[in-house]
Amino acid sequence: MQPTFYKLSVMDTIQIKDKQFTVSIKEQEIQKEVIRVANEINRDLAGQNPIFLSVLNGSFMFTADLMKHITIPCEISFIKLASYQGVASTGTIKEVMGLNEDITGRTIVIVEDIVDTGLTMQRLLETLGTRSPKEIHIASLLVKPEKLKVELDIKYVAMNIPNDFIVGYGLDYDGYGRNYPDIYTVID
Ligand code: IMP
Repeated sequence: MQPTFYKLSVMDTIQIKDKQFTVSIKEQEIQKEVIRVANEINRDLAGQNPIFLSVLNGSFMFTADLMKHITIPCEISFIKLASYQGVASTGTIKEVMGLNEDITGRTIVIVEDIVDTGLTMQRLLETLGTRSPKEIHIASLLVKPEKLKVELDIKYVAMNIPNDFIVGYGLDYDGYGRNYPDIYTVID
């Protein structure tokens, strides 16, 4: 017996809490750019035995899709940046959690969902730098170039996007929306 053919309904607009979002980058487009980035990494880091450090939670989908197309020998580990209130005026500080590997002398690829102001990435680079890696590369699914506040060498970028708030493909609004395979932009 033939299975029933289900026509998938495509959700162009979604509601998360008080905000509406409309689809802006479709899954197919994302996958195309993720594969391009994987191929660049395969070409550049062949023979370097890199460790990919995936920054949770936002980069879980990007990491999974990217790693399926990495063909060079490598390791993968997952880290989390825990925010805590620093003393008085220093505001929020992010601490790196879960990095148990010895990264001394190793080639590191940070796998991040989005670089916005770049402050999170800058802090992560500082912390990892104290552990004497050979080199650190950044692979970010998304970059908002207009919002960058610090100078960063982001070697691998799947997509540059305008300065709008987005959800989907791992990215959240107040904890929700990470599960969608497409990327959605907030409607004003
Ligand atoms: P940055 O420190 O300003 O670069 O912020 C980086 C972090 O902010 C990312 O890892 C995301 O968790 C979050 N973020 C920035 N822009 C967005 C967005 O448009 N949607 C969802 N999360 C975002």
